[in-house]
Amino acid sequence: MKIAVVGTGYVGLVTGTCLAETGNQVICVDINEKKVKMMQEGQLPIYEPGLELLFTRNITQGRLHFTSNLAEALEESKIIFLALPTPPGGDGAADLSYVLGAAKDIAKLIKEYKVIVTKSTVPVGTADKITAVLQEHTDMEFAVVSNPEFLREGVAVEDFMKPDRIVIGTDDERARKLMGELYAPYVRQGNPIIYMDQRSSELTKYAANSFLATKISFMNEIANLCELVGADVDMIRRGIGSDDRIGRRFLFSGIGYGGSCFPKDVQALAKSAKENNYDFKILNAVMDVNDIQRTILVEKVKQYYQGNVKGKKFAIWGLAFKPETDDIREAPALYIIDELVKAGAIISAFDPEAMENVKNVVGDKITYTDNQYDALDGADALLILTEWSVFRTPDFDQLEAKLKAKVIFDGRNLYDIQKMIDCGYYYNSIGRKVVS
Ligand code: UDX
Repeated sequence: MKIAVVGTGYVGLVTGTCLAETGNQVICVDINEKKVKMMQEGQLPIYEPGLELLFTRNITQGRLHFTSNLAEALEESKIIFLALPTPPGGDGAADLSYVLGAAKDIAKLIKEYKVIVTKSTVPVGTADKITAVLQEHTDMEFAVVSNPEFLREGVAVEDFMKPDRIVIGTDDERARKLMGELYAPYVRQGNPIIYMDQRSSELTKYAANSFLATKISFMNEIANLCELVGADVDMIRRGIGSDDRIGRRFLFSGIGYGGSCFPKDVQALAKSAKENNYDFKILNAVMDVNDIQRTILVEKVKQYYQGNVKGKKFAIWGLAFKPETDDIREAPALYIIDELVKAGAIISAFDPEAMENVKNVVGDKITYTDNQYDALDGADALLILTEWSVFRTPDFDQLEAKLKAKVIFDGRNLYDIQKMIDCGYYYNSIGRKVVS
């Protein structure tokens, strides 16, 4: 099938590349000409494990193309995916200007029946808005389909190639059939394609992300309670996770959820509920808990130093909002760094992938080291903010040699409590006993 993908961010690039991988002809379009040129030369502008191999292969084999010319992209494409940003506007609602602007441009260019698919996370009713814009600017036949992505950064390729489910929201029979054919190779193992109306499909995405964020905030509150009553959140997680109705995944307490999706989507769903005169109480609590949780480690640090961290030097391991990504959007590390720097602390940080992105935002307020151990030189304590595998089993001899004091604040519960006792560390993690 011939496909156009409008927008080459994380979602657009993964979608375009993975659709090419099953034999489709895919043309990705972006207004950023520099980026398009870079991709035409075979350079992948993002870090996503496994993507580069597929990206290069599909370009080489002539199935994946890039252009900054929308007309060229639309010419032969039957299905047009919109993978454009929907950032939170000033009032917390998703800003649809990119999506609706693209719909208008597309309407003016199409000369035959097209299926326009929203991959971006868009509020309920957006498909209707897109339809209205298209109707206003074209007499051609078209269908608007909601097909939300459920890709996790870091495993996005795997999620696309073997999805748990595919949700397709449309009332148009022709579009339904085309979308079913397009996705057939991805659900060969029997996972479902779930067809529904556009509004249910749009809401499904928000419900999924908000439910997962709720799980996290719930576990973070359990962790906070564990600290007060002397229980261990890891035990609680295992104790409840083995109940199938709860499930083992997404029960890890830490320093709050971040990233490009959860904070934005929870906020947008709460806002959309409010606009419909519904007070979504749980979501408000989920956000409040997360706001507090993302700087809880700073509170622990301040408490340890009796409120005064001025001139203290901290090593930070991990800046990305989660491992296996260079993405720092809404990363708890940014909030923590901000608070500590404001309090007069000196920070030296290392992250395997995200340092360039942090440099662009934080600049020289902190220093950056080439490896995780250099960050420790003369530091009063180590703070662990992202659970990269490389931090899980460090060389504790080097830690001891380089740190000024054997003090670790762990926002991701990486180390065994007994090991920390045996090694003689002060070790403060989340929802577990403080080792001192
Ligand atoms: C998420 C959804 O999982 C995906 O389906 C959706 O399409 C996009 O948003 P992503 O943002 O890549 O994906 O990250 P995810 O792995 O879901 O983690 C989100 C945040 O939750 C991270 O900050 C992570 O650290 C945090 N998290 C996750 C926890 O704090 N505890 C957990 O148990 C799991």
